[in-house]
Amino acid sequence: MNTSKYPWWLSEVVYQIYPRSFQDSNGDGIGDLPGIISRLDYLKDLGVTMLWLSPCFLSPMADNGYDISDYRAIAPEFGSMEDMDRLIAEAGKRSIKIMLDLVVNHSSDEHIWFQRALKDPEGPWGDYYIFRKTDRPLANWRSIFGGNVWEKAGDYYYYHTFHRKQPDLNWDNEKLREEVISIVRWWLDKGVSGFRVDAITFLKKEDFSRNYPPDGADGLANVGAFGQDVEGIGGYLTELKREAFDYKPCLTVAEAFGVKDENVAHYVGEDGYFDIIFDFKAADLDYAGEWYHRTSWTVKDWEDKIMHDQLRTQNYGWCANFIENHDQPRAASKYLKEYADRPEAVKTLGAMYFFLRGVPFIYQGQELGMVNFKRDHIGQFDDLSSIDVFQRGLAEGRSAEEMTGVLNLRSRDHGRTPYPWDKSRYGGFSDHKPWLEMTEEYPAINLKDQIQDPDSIYSFYKELICFRQKGKWKDCLRYGSIERYTSDNAGDSRGAGMDQVISYVRKYGDVKLYCWFNFSNRPVTVRLPCDVAAENEAELAEISWHTQDKVDIAGDVLCLRPWQSVVLRAGI
Ligand code: NOJ
Repeated sequence: MNTSKYPWWLSEVVYQIYPRSFQDSNGDGIGDLPGIISRLDYLKDLGVTMLWLSPCFLSPMADNGYDISDYRAIAPEFGSMEDMDRLIAEAGKRSIKIMLDLVVNHSSDEHIWFQRALKDPEGPWGDYYIFRKTDRPLANWRSIFGGNVWEKAGDYYYYHTFHRKQPDLNWDNEKLREEVISIVRWWLDKGVSGFRVDAITFLKKEDFSRNYPPDGADGLANVGAFGQDVEGIGGYLTELKREAFDYKPCLTVAEAFGVKDENVAHYVGEDGYFDIIFDFKAADLDYAGEWYHRTSWTVKDWEDKIMHDQLRTQNYGWCANFIENHDQPRAASKYLKEYADRPEAVKTLGAMYFFLRGVPFIYQGQELGMVNFKRDHIGQFDDLSSIDVFQRGLAEGRSAEEMTGVLNLRSRDHGRTPYPWDKSRYGGFSDHKPWLEMTEEYPAINLKDQIQDPDSIYSFYKELICFRQKGKWKDCLRYGSIERYTSDNAGDSRGAGMDQVISYVRKYGDVKLYCWFNFSNRPVTVRLPCDVAAENEAELAEISWHTQDKVDIAGDVLCLRPWQSVVLRAGI
């Protein structure tokens, strides 16, 4: 079939790098751009085609770079602009593209714009931000990192969705929007090929005078619950796409919490503001509103959330598929819980999301099956959000021990520990004590061991990428539709039921792939759909892809082994 009508970026496999934690090259315990350059051959060999770098711009690092004080400069701890130019060029030589993080809902309070604004909130720079002359906060909204969204500055208050060191930019101001457009074009001219767009659903603000019912002991209400995808946001985003993203070919992926189902069509698709968006309902299924309000989710709840996003998006465009990022705990720990150290379980987790419809993203260390750390006290955490949640938990009457336990499940630091290249002291990440403690597991989970082992999780990810990029069903995996699919249990009462299995169907032209992923420690017997029949082993080998050494089919019954993934192609 002619695949040229599809967007080029459906052939990308994106790898996210948290520059601070990937590779240190100058012995200061902080990862940097030359460190990334030194690992490009590794990334090329893994098979990824695009690198998304979390912010590496000038920043006081209150939120590790998501607080930018100059959008056209590199933070000295990460290197120089020459290093960035070299990274773009060296990656390009290996056919790897670079995607940057565009953080324009807010800047740092140390940005020159904000410094000028503070001096004259009523003046032109003041209008780059959101200032109000008032003697108290306008409403009871809690910022994402705690405290009221309104912060006092002299006779004024200014608005921040996140930390007080991250004042929100005023998108109603045309001059500010022009600045952002020119920043995007500047980076596109430098040769970057994409943007991950931070916190974008917060651009348009809800009516500031409206109070919401408090949801915590502080009397505040989480702005995340009502302050996203607010009516009117489309005007800004349409302009941003037209004037900035359409300037040169690039892939745009928006961090888009809280997009209402009826608005998905505006966000993705041919005329969408973005190419693809991250949806977080599956990623955040383990808590309700607050990290310390844990849920007891089931495999079916998880599947429902995944499929909800897949199906609502398929009508208009494509998903951005991920199981980890720098704000999330390690996927193996979150989804597999006590089975996180079982390689076959980690492999099935990888395959399940990799074969979904859309562009796959891999977060650094995910390809090794990294797991969460276990820390003893709050002093061992760096993430400002973890520290805020800890304190709010205490204020709600929870013990320090309980809250440390919550952070051991949920802290954003889990994804930020230095990359374990080998089992030497500091894991080959640095020869200096790293800015954040390594995980305790790195002697057991490190690249050097896994790269030599054909059965390792690393080797599996490499094969998975190769299968999606070059395998016999690559067109179906890239361009095919997706449907929910629930098989009948074939009645073995000793096994687990279909409620432990995530399954779906991908279809493209005459290729139809049934995909099953057993998320249980017990076998599951499944009645095969009538269009799948393998008369003999040779035929089965021809139509199947699977983890573990073989697929067990007898007659019309497929027996999924514990933690096994099986893909079968329907009747040829
Ligand atoms: C989302 C980013 O992923 C997160 O790391 C950051 O703290 C907030 N946006 C604020 O920029």
